[in-house]
Amino acid sequence: MTKSLYALGEVPPLGEVPRQMHASVIRQDRFGPPKQAMRTEVVDVPTVGPGQVLVYVMAAGINYNNVWASLGQPVDVIAMRQRFGLPEDFHIGGSEGSGVVWAVGDGVRGVQVGDHVVLSGGQWEPASADLRYVGDPPAASTGFAWGYETNYGSFAQYCLVYDYQCYPKPARLSWEDSACFMLTGPTAYRQLFGWPGHTVRPGDPVLIWGGAGGLGSMAIQLVRMVGGIPIAVVSDAARGDYCRRLGAEGVINRREFDHWGRLPDADDAEAMAGFYRGARAMGKQIWGILGERKSPRIVLEHSGEDTLPTSVYLCASGGMVVLCGGTSGYNGDVDLRHLWMRSKRLQGSHGANAREFGEVVRLVDRGLIQPCLSVCEGFEDIGRLHQLMHENSHPPGNMAVLVNAAQRGTATLGPPAGGDR
Ligand SMILES: NC(=O)c1ccc[n+]([C@@H]2O[C@H](COP(=O)([O-])OP(=O)(O)OC[C@H]3O[C@@H](n4cnc5c(N)ncnc54)[C@H](OP(=O)(O)O)[C@@H]3O)[C@@H](O)[C@H]2O)c1
Repeated sequence: MTKSLYALGEVPPLGEVPRQMHASVIRQDRFGPPKQAMRTEVVDVPTVGPGQVLVYVMAAGINYNNVWASLGQPVDVIAMRQRFGLPEDFHIGGSEGSGVVWAVGDGVRGVQVGDHVVLSGGQWEPASADLRYVGDPPAASTGFAWGYETNYGSFAQYCLVYDYQCYPKPARLSWEDSACFMLTGPTAYRQLFGWPGHTVRPGDPVLIWGGAGGLGSMAIQLVRMVGGIPIAVVSDAARGDYCRRLGAEGVINRREFDHWGRLPDADDAEAMAGFYRGARAMGKQIWGILGERKSPRIVLEHSGEDTLPTSVYLCASGGMVVLCGGTSGYNGDVDLRHLWMRSKRLQGSHGANAREFGEVVRLVDRGLIQPCLSVCEGFEDIGRLHQLMHENSHPPGNMAVLVNAAQRGTATLGPPAGGDR
């Protein structure tokens, strides 16, 4: 007889969908620090619609977007979806993961029950007018971050995705290694190679904020892979060592400077001089690393308000600051003189398209870049790991949790073959 609920790691017969599942759930009355907001609950398994795929989640990656979802800021994602008419009063996060296809809806193409897959976090409506005419999913009005803006992400026994979000899982990787790179890797990839006129070329210096973070660790490898020169910014020596091991030419410790935050008024000469002192001193460190007076042709930004003025100042003439986030705040000041007088480009970048996701999977599959998994914990640690991220006290690289996988280092659906890796 079909059971209505299975324990985590208790594998139902392939294709048999129970009525309920364990999930890490955020509710509005718990909004706040992740350790408070995220709780394990039992909820109904979602119904699979046309084009959709139900995936039995083996492992899930931890990302910053569900720090924002926990806080309920800058967007209350539950209220946002309810405004679109969706009924759920809860949020199940998780924008990347690995698992096994368990059920498919009408019209699904390219995947079938039993396939081992990794999941992208990009959802969009393929038939929407702006996709037909503009053709760039991350910029489409129907483009959403799955497991953040949309519900039923990978922090549950089953998650709901569209067929185009499924990519073959790299066979050489464990469930958790496969689960941790599909958000930061493709986002960094699009930042570095997705903006024609400013793709990384051999010999290009690239300044990477948060080099030891999820985006940063992927970006360092991607820049190196094509012959660019990654320079990482970090906040302590251990993170610097990590970046060097990944391929950074040199590292800069941001704690040596104090010119962060919003720009002073342009007419305030004294305050502006303070900003220039800090930014120029940082620029000199870049010259020291490069061994010549050269500026970064590309600056990979996500730290936002604290760092954007410096990014724009340090970027080479004709170069690009490419930004996908605002961890430290959203009021990013730009001294417009630096932008126009030096023909610099300030480019927003968000997620990735299906081709870019697929290319990153292939790079990882071939061992050209590593997923950089630093920590893998259990399902009950989802809130704790997000809390560490919120406090910027998490270990370098990417983090993951086991969901239905019983043990680390496994890549099969059945009972694990052996001991710890
Ligand atoms: N739009 C998208 O598609 C997209 C995708 C992925 C991520 N993001 C966003 O990008 C940001 C980073 O994500 P992530 O996964 O790389 O997070 P992460 O693993 O926490 O890494 C971020 C790094 O930023 C650095 N940092 C933190 N506060 C800073 C500050 N005030 N000034 C300078 N550096 C600071 C930290 O390094 P140090 O302390 O060592 O300097 C940290 O390791 C988040 O805001 C996230 O929401 C956006």
